[in-house]
Amino acid sequence: MTTHKAHCLILPYPLQGHINPMLQFSKRLQSKGVKITIAPTKSFLKTMQELPTSVSIEAISDGYDDGGIDQAESFLAYITRFKEVGSDTLTQLIQKLTNCECPVNCIGYDPFLPWAVEVAKNFGLVSAAFFTQNCTVDNIYYHVHKGVIKLPPTEVDEQILIPGLSSTTVESSDVPSFESSPQSDKLVELLVNQFSNLEKVDWVLINSFYKLEKEVIDWMAKLYPIKTIGPTIPSMYLDRRLPNDKEYGLSLFKPMANECLNWLNNQPISSVVYVSFGSMAKVEAEQLEEVAWGLKNSNKNFLWVVRSTEEPKLPKNLLEELKSTCENNKGLVVSWCPQLQVLEHNSIGCFLTHCGWNSTLEAISLGVPMVTMPQWSDQPTNAKLVQDVWQMGVRAKQDEKGIVRRDIIEECIKLVMEEEKGKVIMENVKKWKELARNAMDEGGSSDKNIEEFVSKLVKEI
Ligand code: UDX
Repeated sequence: MTTHKAHCLILPYPLQGHINPMLQFSKRLQSKGVKITIAPTKSFLKTMQELPTSVSIEAISDGYDDGGIDQAESFLAYITRFKEVGSDTLTQLIQKLTNCECPVNCIGYDPFLPWAVEVAKNFGLVSAAFFTQNCTVDNIYYHVHKGVIKLPPTEVDEQILIPGLSSTTVESSDVPSFESSPQSDKLVELLVNQFSNLEKVDWVLINSFYKLEKEVIDWMAKLYPIKTIGPTIPSMYLDRRLPNDKEYGLSLFKPMANECLNWLNNQPISSVVYVSFGSMAKVEAEQLEEVAWGLKNSNKNFLWVVRSTEEPKLPKNLLEELKSTCENNKGLVVSWCPQLQVLEHNSIGCFLTHCGWNSTLEAISLGVPMVTMPQWSDQPTNAKLVQDVWQMGVRAKQDEKGIVRRDIIEECIKLVMEEEKGKVIMENVKKWKELARNAMDEGGSSDKNIEEFVSKLVKEI
């Protein structure tokens, strides 16, 4: 029987891109002897296709147990009720976990749920905010929180030097972007409110690594007890300290794993463009069509994830044409894939990505150059970092209608996969991959931070 040294309750916000890194971080803690209980919402738990077998799960309620946010009248109604019902059900869960063999002594919470700090304090628990975006993006939200800049930025705001981006010119297309609607305003409020209550927390954990964002991490560390603990990729892909840990767990969609891997096994080395826009982005039909033509015209092999809710947007005749391309073994269109296994595969030559932070960090860690097509939220800033700061890819530019045209997509893919500039990008990709691995290796910057977190948790008992 394992004797645990401490017990951490992990409270994720119910989104795929948030739960993945928190789960992986949890597994790291667990490998260092900490007992983990993950508390997703009941509605989120119902939609899971795969559940992790290695950690305990105890659901709380967001007040919408049958449909989650889709059941709520508005985003505001959702977050308001989540705060109320979530605080109550989290309190009940902590009471239950206080009476177990290894009582809970810490909450690791998603700062989308800042009220969790109050609940933690009521029980005298250690609190750790887990930011799922990178530090540069967090820093931008911090400046908005302080009223220094606005989103969207004004011309004056554009003059402000963002630590970490000071070596480049920052334009309005490089900062987090949201459509203009009352719902989006509330989302921005949620992102900015990540900083409310933050002065009360014991730890601020960021899914990044020191060398990747040194300047902005040093800047933020003067304000908050910041520790980088990433990349939170299953250790099997990085330092291999948990040898069988390929489990990604808590997936919302069923990956077509065999189809993808069997197909990739038959492709030449570095020949395939992998395309995915993550779990949330709703890409316009016109844009999807341009992507399809860009892929076809590039004449490269491709593996394209088109979620089932997105597929009807592709024109029928184009879909047929794409499928005939696929029958010629040129491409494969799937509804969801095991992304880490795909990125790790030696047939992948380039990742056409929306630049969600998890996808970006996964590409960095597994050494895949990127063509970026950011859609919204933090993605434009991630794309800016990829192209101009880390130089691991290129951004495919939108036209004045906000669409990236087929010729640009084709050009960018060829640049990364065929041209001299692509070779320079590949050199940087190799460098950053190595640095990402070093951070998680025993004694690396992120590993040391996780060790420090665990040893202080144990002392608190
Ligand atoms: C959201 C936001 O859009 C993103 O900008 C923010 O940084 C995090 O929250 P999402 O759009 O889903 O996330 O993108 P991303 O952060 O890249 O996360 C997607 C996750 O799903 C990744 O971990 C990726 O490995 C996984 N995935 C994606 C699969 O496992 N299979 C797929 O086919 C596609």
